[in-house]
Amino acid sequence: MHFFSSNNDVNQITFTSLPKPQTPIMRLNTICPYFTMFPIDFPFNILSEAQTSEWILDPFCGRGTTNFAARLRGLSSFGIDSSPIACAISAAKFVNTTSTKIITLCKTILENELEPKHIPQGKFWELCYYPSTLKKICIIREALLKECISDDAIALKALMLGILHGPVNKNFPSYLSNQMPRTFSSKPDYSVRYWVKNGFFPKNIDVLDTVSRKANYSFNTLPSKIAGGISLSDARKPLKFIPDEGFNWIITSPPYFGMITYMQDQWLRNWFLGGPDLVDYSNTNQLGYGSKEIFIQELAKVWENITKACASGAKMVIRFGALPNKSNNPSEIVQESINRANCGWEHYSTDCAGTSNGGNRQSAQFGEKMGKPQKEIDYYAVLR
Ligand SMILES: C[S@@+](CC[C@H](N)C(=O)[O-])C[C@H]1O[C@@H](n2cnc3c(N)ncnc32)[C@H](O)[C@@H]1O
Repeated sequence: MHFFSSNNDVNQITFTSLPKPQTPIMRLNTICPYFTMFPIDFPFNILSEAQTSEWILDPFCGRGTTNFAARLRGLSSFGIDSSPIACAISAAKFVNTTSTKIITLCKTILENELEPKHIPQGKFWELCYYPSTLKKICIIREALLKECISDDAIALKALMLGILHGPVNKNFPSYLSNQMPRTFSSKPDYSVRYWVKNGFFPKNIDVLDTVSRKANYSFNTLPSKIAGGISLSDARKPLKFIPDEGFNWIITSPPYFGMITYMQDQWLRNWFLGGPDLVDYSNTNQLGYGSKEIFIQELAKVWENITKACASGAKMVIRFGALPNKSNNPSEIVQESINRANCGWEHYSTDCAGTSNGGNRQSAQFGEKMGKPQKEIDYYAVLR
């Protein structure tokens, strides 16, 4: 288990309508960008029908949008993802801490340790971070790798992932790196060529100051605490947690068929979490490898697996689409995988979820990289 929080707040404040995106209570949701997240209003609106005692599951939780929507509604939830980056971000969606505690932890780490055991070497690292900035990042990295159990540490880890790389600001820096995208980590050789061509050098960025500003922005107002947690595991494998009465809601968005680069596109964040100093191209329990036939079969395994953890009458909503460069029918893939699983899900309806114009969808982000996004669908089913 990556993280588990046991009890809901006694004096719980819940939301019946979604607070505006930039309001302080919503800022934790955007602590770190995550490629292919779905918009929060999607799970939040679905959960308007959920009862307070019900449990929510997202077997492909990504950055934990479903879990955060559940928290706003005062509902307990559980998330699974096979990417350590996704798990580190989504675990932070449960924390109960304050900006002061996070800043104090960061300060203590930097005061206690003056030299990291390892600093990555090479052109990429020289151009990505100013030497003293990289040294401090490495100190925080090693401290969190050694121990990351408290809510403060879990929050600091997600916060660090969020500020690790991104665009260079004119005024106060929001990110620690030289000019880079924030949603994905560009590959080392490409980044070096880009920085050299444009004459970009890393600035001396004060890590504690950047952490403090981000902590004050994102962690000053948090929704009430809820029970639940995140598991770093493969959704095809038996679940590491099942509530007594089973899960009542599944709200999820599997990777689109052919989308297999979640880990590689986040290689720098993966490094911060203990991964290698370079892009790791190994298969890391990610769904989506092989043919369409294999993909459907593997997706069916997930449905079969999670159904064993569901209460009778559970409801499932799947948002799914297709990569811009693939001519696949999302409805057919989902329906076929449900048929294959053959474990009691009765199709209720399939709605068109539109394209990226409606928000930060999977399709929107593929669109940036691969061309015109395709329409997504929302597939609704009930467990009989
Ligand atoms: C479309 S994203 C989910 C995004 C999420 N809805 C959000 O808002 O952030 C799909 C996720 O499935 C995860 N994934 C892929 N294969 C998996 C597997 N076998 N088990 C669990 N998670 C997996 C990926 O790491 C990725 O985070």
